[in-house]
Amino acid sequence: MTTTEVVPRPATAAGADGPAVRVRGLEKRYGGRAVLEGLDLEVRRGEVFALLGPNGAGKTTTIEVLEGVRRRDGGAVTVLGEDPARAGRAWRARIGVVSQGEPAGQALSVRETLDHFAAYTATPRSTADLLDAVGLTDQAGTRVGRLSGGQQRRLAVALGVQGRPDLVFLDEPTTGMDPVARRQFWELVRNLRAGGTTVLLTTHYLDEAAELADRVGVVSGGRLVEVGAPDELGAALRRVATVSWTEAGARRQVRTDAPAAVLRDLLAVAPSEVPGLTVTSPGLEDVYLQLVGAVPTTAGGTR
Ligand SMILES: Nc1ncnc2c1ncn2[C@@H]1O[C@H](COP(=O)(O)OP(=O)(O)OP(=O)(O)O)[C@@H](O)[C@H]1O
Ligand SMILES: [Mg+2]
Repeated sequence: MTTTEVVPRPATAAGADGPAVRVRGLEKRYGGRAVLEGLDLEVRRGEVFALLGPNGAGKTTTIEVLEGVRRRDGGAVTVLGEDPARAGRAWRARIGVVSQGEPAGQALSVRETLDHFAAYTATPRSTADLLDAVGLTDQAGTRVGRLSGGQQRRLAVALGVQGRPDLVFLDEPTTGMDPVARRQFWELVRNLRAGGTTVLLTTHYLDEAAELADRVGVVSGGRLVEVGAPDELGAALRRVATVSWTEAGARRQVRTDAPAAVLRDLLAVAPSEVPGLTVTSPGLEDVYLQLVGAVPTTAGGTR
């Protein structure tokens, strides 16, 4: 080498130790109507993170800001060490996107579509592997416009992971998929995770979040209202158990954060037997419904 050049450390390497995604105080308004009002979110490198939240909560909006395709009105956003609003092509190549819409190029066959987009990718996964991974091998020759809704989602997923991204955004990837396709997709996500890929997905299927995600976050009222491992989410809410039994032919029910005390009281009255006695703790779906305000959260009292 005859010239001495100072090679700048790539901006992506600068963020290599930080989280894959860091969002602080994200704000977004549509025509003056606030959708996101200070959303905080952190996705760790290599984890599968599921965003939950009701229709219209702002999940897609959040993901689009992170992908750099939607402008934000406030807040700080870092994705793989860069601000998506300013990041360039090298950054984009490290991101995989499966958006909520349908794939373009309806006139091409599935195989042609995958081959077409492979040409824009530095080290694409092979079309045969992708077809196999999403279960579209038998439809390889079918025109995209002729695919069923679930098959289109499968193709979208294949396109999203084609470029071996470090981070993949999957916006409702399994909507419309049949149970078999959904399990194939779960397997694909587990393989991505095993290979070190970070995955941020949205879903309305809480079993899917519980199955796949290291952590889940709930978006409601413009913010991330809760985040945690699927079985820890809403720890305070989970402590509330429901004790129910049958008394004088009618079902009685008490919601309590001290089920042992309730049981003690019951057994004091009827030491030999409490007919139909059950004690249940809320599952992920119960916790979710309480977090988004769909059911009351108050403990105690008989219903
Ligand atoms: N381009 C847009 N122009 C105006 N309003 C929009 C636009 N995109 C989204 N919105 C509104 O912003 C809110 C959040 O939408 P978003 O698509 O982010 O919700 P979501 O959480 O992804 O919902 P879903 O679960 O139904 O996919 C909704 O009220 C929606 O109507
Ligand atoms: Mg959405």
